[in-house]
Amino acid sequence: MLSEDQNKRLTEVGAGTPMGELLRRYWMPIAAVAELDDKPTKPVRLMGEDLVLYKDRSGNYGLVDRHCPHRRADLSYGWVEDCGLRCNYHGWLWEHTGRCLQQPFEETAHPDARFKDRVRIKAYAVEAKAGLLWAYLGPPPAPLVPTWEPFTWQNGFVQIVFSEVPCNWFQCQENSIDPVHFEWLHSNWSRTIAGANGDRSPTHLKVGFEEFEYGFTYRRILEGQSEQDELWTVGRCCLWPNCLFTGGHFEWRVPIDDATMLSVGWFFDRVPNDMEPYKQDRIPYWYSPIKDPLTDRWITSHIMNQDFIAWVGQGTIADRTQEHLGESDRGVIMMRKRILEDADHVMRGGEPKAIIRDAEKNRCVRLPIIGREFFLKGSSRVEHETSRQRTPGLQIRKEFPFLTGQPEEVRAAYRRAMGLPESGVDARSPAS
Ligand code: FES
Ligand SMILES: [Fe+2]
Repeated sequence: MLSEDQNKRLTEVGAGTPMGELLRRYWMPIAAVAELDDKPTKPVRLMGEDLVLYKDRSGNYGLVDRHCPHRRADLSYGWVEDCGLRCNYHGWLWEHTGRCLQQPFEETAHPDARFKDRVRIKAYAVEAKAGLLWAYLGPPPAPLVPTWEPFTWQNGFVQIVFSEVPCNWFQCQENSIDPVHFEWLHSNWSRTIAGANGDRSPTHLKVGFEEFEYGFTYRRILEGQSEQDELWTVGRCCLWPNCLFTGGHFEWRVPIDDATMLSVGWFFDRVPNDMEPYKQDRIPYWYSPIKDPLTDRWITSHIMNQDFIAWVGQGTIADRTQEHLGESDRGVIMMRKRILEDADHVMRGGEPKAIIRDAEKNRCVRLPIIGREFFLKGSSRVEHETSRQRTPGLQIRKEFPFLTGQPEEVRAAYRRAMGLPESGVDARSPAS
């Protein structure tokens, strides 16, 4: 059980708070590259700060204060130019570095005054990688945006999925080190929803947790498996400070503010060997709804939707003074302790865990990955459909199991990439 003060320290993300300062040492994914190609401005709220993300006509990305420093108009209604973002109220033009480039009437009235040199807008760094746009809100020098190993993989269909979840980010991240929930929240609950008659999924016999350079791994042995299985020898990753990595996909829990979290999923599906070479021109992105408008209840049909239900169910900010932790929570306890130590370390001027500054190392940052060979080399369609079936994530998926609402064009592009028949005959998962 934690004290109220510890709970506050784990969950507050504003600038100046220990966790807010820790989080500001890392790049956060906030949008898809393709999203800004579709529309060059996007209002963004990140760690309690209201901002506007934009791409100007020269291809520069900017992330600046939502409010214009002149008289506070909303810059998400501004427009992009060859260089910078222009405010729609009086036309002041802002550059991604924070400089004011033009103040039309001021320059007419007082051509020599150079008032524009005396005003700046709050501006943060943005970088594109792996189809995502990443923002850094911390002090200079910014570290490198990690090139996680899957970002270097070829012959895969990648898609990015966003959902806005109305609860604090940290209870979502606690789920990244919670192997036992899978058996209940996903396997058994899905069976129950489908009307199974007491037929249970294999139960967890043993779990293990270890810290490594970029976070923690969690390992498990399920009924019918052994210590030779990769779920035990390799495990899955709780990536520092706010991500789950399962091998085939990442889930970042990006704090919008103390009470809201942006779930950012990056999913890689390896095409079968007979579909190689496969290259994506554009990584698609989509927004997944979390509530069924007809019933006003959370959507239960997909894996991550089930996770969201657990997290919002814990309350907007989980009250950790009221918990009763057991053996299955050993990883959660380890992670809380470590992240609070890291936050204190940052407050004392230190560098936290998993910061990458070495460009050589960042060419490809290796992680523990179950079935690495499969992702690198792929396999034939026959192998796909037979021997790989038992290990989750290592098979051709006919439907997207993680989030509801995949747009038809993304589904069709996926099926073409995988060599699946254009209109699938398999029943789609129910929407709720
Ligand atoms: S408020 Fe932006 S130019 Fe006046
Ligand atoms: Fe889950």
